[in-house]
Amino acid sequence: PRKIWLTRHGESQFNTLGKIGGNSTLSPRGEMYAQLLPDILASRIPRTGDGKPYPVAVWTSTLQRTIITASGLHYPKVQWKALDEIQAGTCDGLTYEQVKEQMPHEYELRKQDKLRYRYPSGESYMDVIQRLEPVVTEVEREKECVCIVSHQAVLRALYGYFMNQPLDSVPSIDIPLHTVMELTPKADGTMAETRFIVD
Ligand code: G3H
Repeated sequence: PRKIWLTRHGESQFNTLGKIGGNSTLSPRGEMYAQLLPDILASRIPRTGDGKPYPVAVWTSTLQRTIITASGLHYPKVQWKALDEIQAGTCDGLTYEQVKEQMPHEYELRKQDKLRYRYPSGESYMDVIQRLEPVVTEVEREKECVCIVSHQAVLRALYGYFMNQPLDSVPSIDIPLHTVMELTPKADGTMAETRFIVD
């Protein structure tokens, strides 16, 4: 059966500073991940009934950290705006510590209901889940293997959907950096999962 690979971008400059959002490039560690990713993927491509490797499609967001992470993957690529990270609105570019200090009320509201909390001028997890609908439809229609290089919040939503996780658990699903989550559709309609940690 075909594979669906989910991975976050390599560690970004903003990740190393603990900042939310932005459109930064990769850290040296992140660059390393981008360099290792092509071989990992190549070693996992299954073969079709006639012994040929499955075709692979690579989908990124429109943010440079995912585009750079996928730059060594030489397969047909699509950039999806719907795969961009959750928009943090007025909190974009701040650290969680700064949000807590400068907007304590917002910080509390988010803590109380991370799924439904919408950043001022930004998005909620529910908004992200909704905008991912066309992506999910397209993954399910695809016959090829799909490698999705995206972001933490977006991958929580996609993983939650494919792995049938309860909606309220989605904002806290563990999606570590430098890890490929390989999902394999099973006959009963559920997915088997294997993780490859590259650190
Ligand atoms: O920059 C945004 C983060 O990847 C989302 O993480 O929803 O746990 O704050 P969070």
